[in-house]
Amino acid sequence: MPSNKMITLHARLKSITNVANGINAFELIGGGEDPLPPFTAGSHIDIHLDNGLIKQYSLCNDPDEINRYVFAVQREETGNGGSKAIHDTLRAGDYLTISIPRNNFPLAQNVENHLFLAGGIGVTPIMAMIKACQSKSLKFELIYCVRSPEKTAFLNELAKIDNVTIHNDQGDPAHSYDFSELLGNPMTGTHLYYCGPPGFMRAVKSAAANWPKGTCHFEYFTTLDKDHQPAAPENATNASFQVKLNSTGDIIDVPVNKSIADALREHGIEVQTSCESGLCGTCQIRYLEGTPEHHDLILDEETRKTDILICCARSHSPLLVLDL
Ligand code: FES
Repeated sequence: MPSNKMITLHARLKSITNVANGINAFELIGGGEDPLPPFTAGSHIDIHLDNGLIKQYSLCNDPDEINRYVFAVQREETGNGGSKAIHDTLRAGDYLTISIPRNNFPLAQNVENHLFLAGGIGVTPIMAMIKACQSKSLKFELIYCVRSPEKTAFLNELAKIDNVTIHNDQGDPAHSYDFSELLGNPMTGTHLYYCGPPGFMRAVKSAAANWPKGTCHFEYFTTLDKDHQPAAPENATNASFQVKLNSTGDIIDVPVNKSIADALREHGIEVQTSCESGLCGTCQIRYLEGTPEHHDLILDEETRKTDILICCARSHSPLLVLDL
C-alpha cells in the first residue's frame, strides 16, 4: 500500500537537563549499534510519542558532535499535550522513535555575517547555528528576546559567548525589543535568521520588509494557533480537484474543505502528518504531473518544482499525480 512514511530511527534518551524554568534539554544517542546520522545546523527531528503525536524539535547541540542529538522543550500547559507528555513521561534510559534530521532552516553559505534573532524557545535551532559559526570561525551576532533570566534557556552557556545580547522584557510589550530600529536598513553582507513565537515573528518580518530577497531566513513554531497559520497564496483557486496514485492508478477526489492528506486517509492510504500547517515537512511527497498550489512556509522554489506538502497544498490543475 502506498505511504509517505519517513525513515525512522531508534534512539536512547541518555539524559534530561533542566536549562531554564519549565525548559528541559533531552540528550539522545543511538539506540542500537549504529550511531545517529550527522546533522546540519538548523535541523529538526520528529519525536514519535506514545500517545500517537508526532512532534518536531530543533536540534540545539553542536552539529560536529558524533552520535549525539540534543533538543529542548518548553512545557506548555495549553496546546495538544506534546510538550507535557515529553516532560511528564520521558525518562533517561527510554528508547524513542525519531525521524532522521531534516533541515528547513539552514545557514546560508558564503555570507560575511549572520544575524540571529531568537524569541523564547525559538533559540533552539539558533544554538546549533551559533556552534556551527564558532567552529567555522564565521562572524555572527545573536539577539535573544525572552521574558526573564529564569526563562532564558542556556543562559550560562550564552553568557560566555561574545556578540550575544539577551533582552528581557518581563512580558511587557512596552519593553519589547525595537526591531524596526535594528532592521530598518538592510545590512550589506549580512543574512538574518529568526525564530520565535507568532508576535515576535510578525515584528521581525515587518521590520525586515526592506531586506533583499534571499537574505532573510526564518522558522515558525509548528504549534501555531489558527490565527497565525500561513495565509493562502494570492492566486489561490479554492476549488476541488483529484489526485492520482502513481503506483495503483487510483483516482481520489479532494473536496474544497479537505486536505490531500485527509482525502488519502479516507481511502485507506496511510500518510504521515504532524503540524498540518505547512511548517514541518513531515508530509512532504513528490508529485509527477499537474500544477500544485503551494500553501506552505518551508519549501524553496526548487523543491516546489518536484514536491508538495499534502497537509496544505491544493492544485491549479484538475489532477495531480502523486508519487505514491
Ligand atoms: S504535516 Fe507539517 S508540513 Fe505537513
